[in-house]
Amino acid sequence: MRTTLLVCFAVLSVTILSGDHPSAAEPKKAELPKVNPLMADKLKNAQLLLEGLALNDFEKIQKSAEELMRISKAAEWTVLKTPMYEVNTNNFRRAAETIIKKAKEKNVDGATLAYVDMTVSCVRCHQHCREVRNTSFTPIHE
Ligand code: HEC
Repeated sequence: MRTTLLVCFAVLSVTILSGDHPSAAEPKKAELPKVNPLMADKLKNAQLLLEGLALNDFEKIQKSAEELMRISKAAEWTVLKTPMYEVNTNNFRRAAETIIKKAKEKNVDGATLAYVDMTVSCVRCHQHCREVRNTSFTPIHE
């Protein structure tokens, strides 16, 4: 009887101890990748785009929008694999496409409107990323 009880206790202890308690050895989930130069390039090209819009320079508008489109298609773009990240990516690309089209048509109003759409997608995607990781972009590189 005593042995049976001891065995039961041992089994129970093992079950409890090996339960899903996070151990120190467990890898941190949602580990943040190092910010890649690609991401910083977005800002550079978005600024060039604004410059193009402000100066009615359609060549500059088109070139920077094409560059932004190229950036969004690079492998390093996909930092998160969530449906919302995809939605924001699609909105971003649609806006870039519209900007290119409007630049070709020399339609500065249309290009400006699409630039606003794109800017909204930047902000929304970053908001989503912060929500998912519950962190901000600035302090991630410890
Ligand atoms: C679909 C999502 C998404 C969209 C849209 C998006 N970004 Fe980002 N952005 C990210 C992610 C994710 C990071 C963090 C990158 C990392 O951790 O590698 C980031 C980081 C950045 C950074 C920080 C780079 C650094 O070196 O610290 C800047 C600046 C930036 N984005 C600008 C923009 C601008 C400007 C736009 C719009 C023109 C934009 N982003 C649109 C996802 C997005």
